[in-house]
Amino acid sequence: RRLLATELHDQEIIVVSNREPYLHERDGDRIVVRRPASGLVTAIEPVMRACSGTWIAHGSGSADRESVDDHDRVRVPPGEEDYTLRRLWLTEDEEQGYYYGFANEGVWPLCHAAHVRPVFRESDWRRYRAVNRRFAEAVVVEARSEDPVVLMQDYHFALLPAMLRELLPRATIITFWHIPWPSPESFGICPWSQELLRGMLGSTILGFHTKHHCRNFMETVDRQLEARIEHEHDTISHEGKETLIESYPISIEWPSPEVCAAWPAAKLCRERVFARFGLRSDARLAAGVDRFDYTKGILERLHAVERMLEKYPEWTGRFGFVQIAAPTRSALEEYRAFQARIESVTERINTRFGREDYRPVHLVAEHHDQDALIELYRAADACVVTSLHDGMNLVSKEFVAARDDERGVLVLSRYAGAAREMTEALIVNPYHVEETADALQRAITMPAEEQRVRMASLRDTVREYNVYRWAGRMLSDAARVRVRERIADRV
Ligand code: G6P
Repeated sequence: RRLLATELHDQEIIVVSNREPYLHERDGDRIVVRRPASGLVTAIEPVMRACSGTWIAHGSGSADRESVDDHDRVRVPPGEEDYTLRRLWLTEDEEQGYYYGFANEGVWPLCHAAHVRPVFRESDWRRYRAVNRRFAEAVVVEARSEDPVVLMQDYHFALLPAMLRELLPRATIITFWHIPWPSPESFGICPWSQELLRGMLGSTILGFHTKHHCRNFMETVDRQLEARIEHEHDTISHEGKETLIESYPISIEWPSPEVCAAWPAAKLCRERVFARFGLRSDARLAAGVDRFDYTKGILERLHAVERMLEKYPEWTGRFGFVQIAAPTRSALEEYRAFQARIESVTERINTRFGREDYRPVHLVAEHHDQDALIELYRAADACVVTSLHDGMNLVSKEFVAARDDERGVLVLSRYAGAAREMTEALIVNPYHVEETADALQRAITMPAEEQRVRMASLRDTVREYNVYRWAGRMLSDAARVRVRERIADRV
């Protein structure tokens, strides 16, 4: 965090994301402030607190404009007020076309290999373009200088970099793509693929989680645009502008000793969670924590739990699987159908293996705050992250950070970006039910010493490669490019 502050000097930082870091919701006469479930928010929030800039986001989750000070701008976090949150209020049509339509029915399934077909509507595309323009204009209004560092987040804003480059040519634009980048063939089916690529190449730096996503992006550009690609330097030159394409694996803020000291003891967490889900004291507990999204592999995970109970019947009555699934994008039919399917499979497994006083699967389709998640992570014998495709996945890192007792086993999908770094997890192919069932069995029977060795090593990795390093590396690359550009300006 200190290094990050040094990196920033007096630099003006503006973040743009769709999701806002705080929801101000009205509960009767009171305003309740809540944190949304979003890996992106988890990662950017500590960075913003360290650099105290401005975060521009879509004000969708908030009850209404009147719930915050001057309607558009509010200092957050509540009580600490480290930075400014500037909300942009979208109309229902804008939200429908840009957020639900183009971003979440088009680009999201386009970039995730989860076998859900993307939907591309001309009207959504028009709204997406218009909303990107609105955000670009908002950046110009918020900017105090002509050369701020703008951190653009995710697939909601592919067009924004080039739009902003026109409005603020001297800005340093860092775009981070939080989701996977697919193969050129997959991406090519988007009717507006070239426009999206041109938009993104307005960035000074374009970051992905893994080298693999960077390579896919460079190949996609190679096939679709007239551009010069320099693999040696990881750059793309297009229409006289150079963009650095680099991998920056995102992470979490490593909890300080004070934060850890305030956590309830693992034993107490276990007692509370076991009581909540009616588990026997000698039972084993596995947990999944996700947004209720079809990319997370929740269905395949349930099949693996079912197979484990079938294959290792000694666990019936002595094993609980808790799945926290935070509701997300439920206005979309695809998401509602997915939720209904998961509910029915859960019921089927519980009917098959449950007894009067025992249910093996507990599906909790509710948002949980950080304290509740820490309690669950600390109580669990295993955390199961079986995404079908995931840019990074921060649940795996949060689980490891919560285990200062060096116990617990992570079962992790090879298709999550996190699998590249977290090699001491039990890595599985989530589509392979038998393999995942065996990994679950192995996780809940793993000797304490093996758990300790694996967990200690995972913890070292996440502590070292924390979110400040993620942001610090991007910002120091940006500083290098800035110096080069300034020198070039002068000659
Ligand atoms: C992923 C995306 C984020 C998004 C989050 C939650 O992590 O990369 O951009 O904020 O999901 O989804 P939502 O649609 O609720 O913001």
